[in-house]
Amino acid sequence: MTKNYGPEYVRAIAPYQAGKPIAEVAREFGLDEASIVKLASNENPFGVPESAVQAMTAAATDLGRYPDANGFELKAALSKRYDVPADWITLGNGSNDILEIAAHAFVERGQAIVYSQYSFAVYALATQGVGARHIVVPAQAYGHDLPAMLAAIDAETRLVFIANPNNPTGTFIPAADIQAFLDKVPANVVVVLDEAYNEFLAEENQFESAEWVKKYPNLLVSRTFSKAYGLAGLRVGFGIAQPALTDLMNRIRQPFNVNSMAQAAAIAALNDKDFLKRSAANNAAGYQQFTEAFTQLGLEFVPSYGNFVLVKVGNDPAAGSRVNLSLLKQGVIVRPVGNYGLPEWLRVSIGLPQENAVLIAALTKALAE
Ligand SMILES: Cc1ncc(COP(=O)(O)O)c(C=O)c1O
Repeated sequence: MTKNYGPEYVRAIAPYQAGKPIAEVAREFGLDEASIVKLASNENPFGVPESAVQAMTAAATDLGRYPDANGFELKAALSKRYDVPADWITLGNGSNDILEIAAHAFVERGQAIVYSQYSFAVYALATQGVGARHIVVPAQAYGHDLPAMLAAIDAETRLVFIANPNNPTGTFIPAADIQAFLDKVPANVVVVLDEAYNEFLAEENQFESAEWVKKYPNLLVSRTFSKAYGLAGLRVGFGIAQPALTDLMNRIRQPFNVNSMAQAAAIAALNDKDFLKRSAANNAAGYQQFTEAFTQLGLEFVPSYGNFVLVKVGNDPAAGSRVNLSLLKQGVIVRPVGNYGLPEWLRVSIGLPQENAVLIAALTKALAE
């Protein structure tokens, strides 16, 4: 009889559905692990940068001790990279941690959080986790409708989550639109600008949002080492905001929320410009490979600015799960997005050219079944 434990708003949480691990698919479908292609979790197909492996090897000898609770060296490296004081930076166990910490630090039960329909699933979880009210604003062309989000902010709203680019749809908001939004948001509302996929943006779309933090005291920019930097398994991300926000976040976070290996690897990855450049180039080529194939197959897709593409694989609500099952049987793991209210779609992460080719062939077969 556990149904009475905990608050009602916690019991109402639908747990996060992660991409299926390779070993699980191999077991379930009787496949050889080595033959499986996983394009499900927006990971970097190059894996961990060699520079980070070396840094971790060195850091491994010190694992008997607790990590630096304040992440001095990593914060110093980030402070230099983004030209902000070190005490404007909060480290997180992945940027997921930053999102959670923000909800806990800035919102109390009964207050409200605004986010967009079809935006990252963790926004709903973080809102639910603090017992706040969800204000979900209908998307426009699968992306954020910032004027509508501004209008949706009410007297109880304390936080707004914006993903740019957005996951799972891949949509992008230009700098001018975000600035216009920030100019009008009430001063007591914190805006979390989640830029997990920032490093994949083409140069003409890049803007230094860390600079905006100097102008907007209610802005928290969130970044991660999980995507372009190739460190998803280590769990390291960070937030940049003025001290009035970071001070509160620092009170809420776990004392040792980023482990020693992650801190060492993140510093190495941050300085590995070549790896980042190669990752972005592979991503741009893979995007072209996917979108050309989808066009040939007559499939609708949402133009993406991230390392994944949302593609419509049928017109009936069972299409996503049907095609997903066929792909799994063929040893290809992608992400069904029925939980986002997109049951006709699948989200496919961009991999290495040969992995993308395997997905395209398997998808072609699945659609013909
Ligand atoms: C938009 C967005 N934000 C944040 C995250 C969290 O990533 P991590 O916790 O690995 O930094 C993800 C992961 O998929 C994401 O898509």
